[in-house]
This record gives sequence, C-alpha cells and structure tokens, in this order.
Amino acid sequence: MKKSHKILLGGAIVVVGLAITYRAVNQAPDASLPADQQMAQIMDDGGCVFCHTANPDLPFYAKFPIAKSLILKDVAEGYKAFDIAPMMQALAEGKPINEVDLAKVEKAVADGTMPLMQYYLVHWGSSLTSTKTDMVMAWAKQHREKFYPNTLAAAEFKNETVRPIPDAVPFDSAKAVLGEALYHDTRLSADGTISCATCHGINMAGVDNKQYSEGIKGQKGGVNAPTSFNACFNFVQFWDGRAATLAEQAGGPPLNPVEMGCSSFDEIVERLQADAEFTARFKAVYPEGLSQQTITDAIAEYEKTLITPNSAFDRYLKGDKKAMNDTQIEGYALFKEYNCATCHAGVNMGGLTYELMGKRANYFKDREVNAKSGLTDADNGRWAQTKVERDRYRFKTPTLRNVALTWPYYHDGSVKTLDEAIEMMSRYQVGREMSKDDVAKVKSFLEALTGQYKGQTLTNVNKQQ
Ligand code: HEC
Ligand code: HEC
Ligand code: HEC
Repeated sequence: MKKSHKILLGGAIVVVGLAITYRAVNQAPDASLPADQQMAQIMDDGGCVFCHTANPDLPFYAKFPIAKSLILKDVAEGYKAFDIAPMMQALAEGKPINEVDLAKVEKAVADGTMPLMQYYLVHWGSSLTSTKTDMVMAWAKQHREKFYPNTLAAAEFKNETVRPIPDAVPFDSAKAVLGEALYHDTRLSADGTISCATCHGINMAGVDNKQYSEGIKGQKGGVNAPTSFNACFNFVQFWDGRAATLAEQAGGPPLNPVEMGCSSFDEIVERLQADAEFTARFKAVYPEGLSQQTITDAIAEYEKTLITPNSAFDRYLKGDKKAMNDTQIEGYALFKEYNCATCHAGVNMGGLTYELMGKRANYFKDREVNAKSGLTDADNGRWAQTKVERDRYRFKTPTLRNVALTWPYYHDGSVKTLDEAIEMMSRYQVGREMSKDDVAKVKSFLEALTGQYKGQTLTNVNKQQ
C-alpha cells in the first residue's frame, strides 16, 4: 500500500469507525453460554466470518474508492488463506471441527495475528481482548478433549495438535494376509512386471525414492509417489483426493495405463483364477470369490497394518523425556512456532486437509524460474477434481511420518533433500525465511518421526545420494 493511501485510509477508517460501528465496550460473550456458542459469537464479532467466507456481506463503506479495493483484497486474501464456513457450521451443529482448522484458529488467536488490524480499527470492539482470547483457548482445548481425545499422550501433551500413532488399528487378519500377497503380486500388472510394492516397497519406507514412479514399459507418471505407510490415517487418498477410501485407491493403479496397465479387473481375475491354490485360499475368506471389490478390499485391509507407531517423537509425547535429544526438542518447539504443526497436525501430521501450495509466495513461478519447469496438469491439484477455482494448486497435505526416508519431496518430487523441503515450506507456506540453524533443528526433529514397523525401526534399503 502506498503511504498516501495509508493516510487516506486511516482518515476514512476513523470517520467511518466513529460514525457507524462504534461500540463502547468490547464485550466478551456471556460466560454462562455453552463454549461453542461463545466461540461462534467471538468469530462473528471479530469479523473472522467476514474475511474468511466466499461471499461476505460487504459493509457500505466498502464502496468508498480506496477502502473498497483494500477491503476486497483483505477478504480475497483471507478467504484464500482460510475458509471458516465448515467450522461455523460445525459449531452450530455441535459437530467436530477439522483438527487442522481447529489448530489454525487456535494458533492465530494465540499469536494475536487475527483479526487483521485494519479490521478492528474500523470495527471497534472486534479486537480480541484477553478475556475473549482465554475463551477461545479454553474452547479449543475442550473441543479437542471431546472429539480428538489424546489418550496416549502424557498429561502435559494432551492438548498438542499432533497425536501419537496407536499401536494397532482394527483389521481383519485373514483378509490382510491375502491383501499382503496381492500387494506384492505382479499379476496385477498387464505384463507381469509391476506390483504395488514396486513403487511402495515395504523395505523402502513405502515409496520408490524416484521423482516420478516408473510403471510398465518404463513409463513415467507425472507426480511423486506418497508413502503407503500410515495412509490409512489420511482423510482421502492421492494428492488431489480423488479416492475416498483405501479400497477405492487400490482400484486405480492396476488400470492406470502408465502404472500397471491392465484393461480391466476381469483380466486380473482371470490370471489369478488360473492359480487354483490362491483361488481356493481366497474363497475361504471371501466366499463371493475374486473381483475388483474383494481384491481391493483385501489390499485395503493389509494397508491397515502398514502403520509405524513408537517413533522417538511419539515416545516423547507418551512421557519418555529421553526419547528425543535437546536439538530435537528445540526443533519441535520451532515446528510449532512456525505454524508447521497446524497443517501437519493429527495422528499422521498431515493428510487431513487440502492446502494451497504457495500460500505466502508463488512456488510455481519460482520453480519455473529456478528449475525451468513449467506448469503441469498435476500442479492443478484438487482443482482437477472439483473445477472450483479456489482449489487450484491445493494438495492433500502429505504426512510427515517417516519423512526422513521418503525423499524426494513435494507432489512434483522436485525437492531432493529434507533441508530444502523445510526451508521452502517456511518460505512458501509460512511466509518467513528460516535460518540455517533453525532448519537443522527442525530437520533433527523430523528425523525423530521415523516410527516402528513390526517392532523394528523403519528403514529404507535405498540410500540418499
Ligand atoms: C480484514 C480481514 C480479516 C479479518 C477480520 C480476519 N482475518 Fe484471518 N486472515 C486474513 C488474511 C488476509 C489472512 C492471510 C494473511 C495472514 O495470515 O496474515 C488471514 C489468515 C487467517 C488464518 C490462516 C493462518 C494460517 O496459518 O493458515 C486463520 C486461521 C485466520 N486468518 C483466522 C482468523 C480469525 C479466527 C479471525 C477472527 C478473530 C480472523 N481471521 C479475522 C484476513 C482477515
Ligand atoms: C508405478 C508406480 C505405482 C504403482 C505400481 C502403485 N502406485 Fe500407489 N501411488 C503411486 C503414485 C505416483 C501415487 C500418487 C498419485 C496421485 O496422487 O495422483 C500413488 C498413490 C498411492 C496411495 C495414496 C497415498 C496418499 O497419501 O495419498 C496409496 C495408498 C497407494 N498409492 C497404494 C498403492 C497400492 C495398494 C498399489 C497396488 C494396487 C499401488 N499403490 C500401485 C505410484 C504407484
Ligand atoms: C498451510 C499449510 C502448511 C504449512 C503451514 C506447512 N506445510 Fe508442509 N506441506 C504442506 C503441503 C500442502 C505440502 C505438499 C506441497 C506439495 O506437494 O507441493 C507440504 C509438504 C511438506 C514436506 C514434504 C513432504 C513430502 O513427503 O513431500 C515437508 C518436509 C513439510 N511440508 C514440512 C513443513 C514444515 C517444516 C513446515 C513449517 C516450517 C510446514 N511444512 C508448514 C502444507 C503446509
């Protein structure tokens, strides 16, 4: 904003503020109201709803020439950064709020970054007083206890945004045994060369460590393979969320022409049925026999066993103070300070929302300049599924579990090292340049996220160059 504009706006703000929106007292909601109602009222009073919804009712002064463009810019930027509508609806219905939304609002209010100053200067009485801030903090804690009870964490860590991975999730073991076999079975590919494990090796931390995976006949896809470990904790599957469940996801690769290249599941069923021994074993568990539905169901059941509890960080959260060293503990504090723990929240430290890549700086423009790689179809992210403009360049936030073993990074696999991935997250998602020292500490913390599979620390047979 130009300085002269600032002064003009300042003047307009004072006049309009005095005339219209004067509120003598910035009152906190009545303490006897239920916490959800208090919260809804604070969000309304704070203008949070105004700047963070698709089509807000603009006040009349928004029609003044300079004010208009500035207000519209704030609203557009605000809505781009955060859509508050799902949370307001959940509040009204007494339903759970997404863990990431909860974490973001809690963090913004705790840091005092919201509402934006230009808003509360106009709307006297909308700034968050300490009473209101305390109410928001108490509400967030209570909401988390109710809907996301952190039963595994030690008392002092019960209100963290990240929760430890449980030792097991319920699964059907007979089905999982079949799923394990199918996961490693190259008969799921047209030419018998590729299995799920080719790109998601169990001894390779569930990835292939390639920028783009290679399918049949050496064909390359256009997006980096995320890990299959802990995928069962994601709210949807794939970077663009096009599969709602693990079973639906497992139906994709076999028919994908550049991955496993089969023409239909009938082709796969036919090949498997030629194997009398396997067919009999399969029928003993699934009397209806082999089909896309039963094959993908078995694979999904197996994927529920691909979880990695008891990382050093999880043991630390559970109360083992020695599980992380001092650098890692400092790294965790930075991870929270830099807002990383808002998007990378929950059990999987990710996998709960779609987030804009390049929220604070233009990632794709810089990539074009630095790496000479122009936009691809995959860069559209969630937009490819919804065709809603707001969804362009939004991706399902990846998990950070075992991230030290799952290079290269980002949906485009363009980032080779964890140091760069951290430094760039800070620049593009948080809007801060991180010092080398802080990057090293956060990296050390992320290394503490390598968990255990079948009681052993997860490893990767590939070595990073
Ligand atoms: C005048 C418009 C305006 C008002 C009022 C406003 N915001 Fe924002 N908000 C923005 C803008 C612009 C951004 C993005 C830039 C930023 O974060 O500073 C943002 C960002 C956010 C974010 C995203 C931060 C992140 O890390 O992803 C959250 C959460 C948020 N606001 C919550 C709130 C809450 C809660 C209130 C009410 C107490 C509020 N906002 C009031 C404009 C506004
Ligand atoms: C040729 C390599 C390749 C093969 C074979 C393959 N995948 Fe993938 N997998 C990928 C890539 C690449 C993605 C990301 C695609 C996207 O998001 O658009 C992916 C995504 C996934 C995801 C989603 C993870 C997440 O966080 O979104 C799961 C789960 C998964 N694959 C499991 C499987 C299973 C099960 C099989 C076998 C039926 C399989 N994959 C076969 C490369 C492969
Ligand atoms: C606004 C949400 C948001 C915030 C804040 C955020 N991230 Fe991310 N993170 C993402 C998204 C989305 C991606 C995927 C980007 C892509 O694929 O282009 C990602 C990717 C990553 C990756 C690469 C993972 C992989 O397997 O490819 C790492 C590492 C990471 N983030 C660490 C951090 C750290 C450290 C911070 C804090 C400095 C942070 N993130 C802050 C949303 C966020």
